[in-house]
Amino acid sequence: MATSSRIASVSTNLLKSNHYGVSSVACRASSWWSKVEMGPPDAILGVTEAYKRDTNPKKINLGVGAYRDDNGKPYVLPSVLKAEERLSKKNLDKEYAPIAGNAEFCNLSINLALGEGNEYTKNGLNATLQGISGTGSLRLGAAFLSSFFPGNKDVYLPTPSWGNHTPIFKHAGLNVKQYRYYDPKTCGFDFQGALQDIAKIPENSIILLHACAHNPTGVDPKPEQWKEISNVVKQKKLFPFFDLAYQGFASGDVAKDAFAVRLFVKEGHEIALAQSYAKNMGLYGERAGAFSLITNNKEVAQNTLSQLKIIVRPMYSNPPIHGVRIVTEILSDPDLRSQWLTEVKGMADRIISMRTQLRDNLKKEGSQRDWSHITDQIGMFCFTGMNQQQSERLTKEFSIYLTKDGRISMAGVTTKNVGYLAHAMHEVTK
Ligand SMILES: Cc1ncc(COP(=O)(O)O)c(C=O)c1O
Repeated sequence: MATSSRIASVSTNLLKSNHYGVSSVACRASSWWSKVEMGPPDAILGVTEAYKRDTNPKKINLGVGAYRDDNGKPYVLPSVLKAEERLSKKNLDKEYAPIAGNAEFCNLSINLALGEGNEYTKNGLNATLQGISGTGSLRLGAAFLSSFFPGNKDVYLPTPSWGNHTPIFKHAGLNVKQYRYYDPKTCGFDFQGALQDIAKIPENSIILLHACAHNPTGVDPKPEQWKEISNVVKQKKLFPFFDLAYQGFASGDVAKDAFAVRLFVKEGHEIALAQSYAKNMGLYGERAGAFSLITNNKEVAQNTLSQLKIIVRPMYSNPPIHGVRIVTEILSDPDLRSQWLTEVKGMADRIISMRTQLRDNLKKEGSQRDWSHITDQIGMFCFTGMNQQQSERLTKEFSIYLTKDGRISMAGVTTKNVGYLAHAMHEVTK
């Protein structure tokens, strides 16, 4: 409705009072929310919207953070389908889960992270709750730290970090600060910069660490570098919070991708851990995840678990049931579990092979640039080193959609489009 006719209709309606003598439209004419301004759109969802509008048949969406098969289609893992088939035969009810979620799922999840038969779960040193995927698990952990962390309320994130980390921690009332991580000169890990910055963090602060497949850069520390990071974190009495959103999805090996988490607990750190099954089981919308504290004392584990439940109860009462039943079915059955391990490796291997093909195709195009970081980086994302202008040219001239920081989702690269992508990248960077 045009503004003038809307005003006219509102003023006419203002005269019409109901039988209580109260004008219903008079209430509606001035909204409680009239001072609320339009917020900015989500940067990544905006990329997908623009992609959908583009009619170029060669268009590619490299913004999306979800796995695609070699035909560019979403992938439902066969092990997930099999688990659902089995669940459908079990005539399960839809009763509420406990506040901390499905206990078997929690147990299987923490064992997946720390390794079967690990000392910590065996001795009851973990407080594990089902979380609402990775995001909800991070948010629950942030809420707990905001109320109970005895140190200062500063959490240090790598620069850059996943775009949702800052709002998650701020929303929980923590202060967000940074440490150096990515080196734009090498498109690799700024190990010295990270160590120097971590060594300057005030004692008794919180440090967030991406356990593997760092998002958005795809740059991970090497095992020896993790050892040094663990030492500095210990010396500085920092509390490590691990975000493990890609276990198995990075290297194809769930133990290898949990190396840093397992190292830190072995080195005696108490840690917080957020896990997600969005990527490694393709359960994005099912919101299956877990939050754990690994403590050095069974009583502490029990006490912290009780407080975590008190945080959950007024927020969402109890978590969803379906996704974690799928995870439980898969992880608890040896055959299904080994099928899943093969499938997660299949996803990781496809991405690794696309990295190699992209690099090879850039060479074939005649690019003189050093693109070794494409294959050195790992996981869903590649920080290409293209600047904003080059990234924008890719979109405008080639209908290739990506975030302006030059990050591409390797999941969107296929054997069919890798040649075109390499050609376009060479054109905008030569
Ligand atoms: C680093 C990181 N942490 C956590 C998540 C959480 O994802 P979800 O809430 O879908 O499990 C993501 C997803 O992209 C991520 O990249």
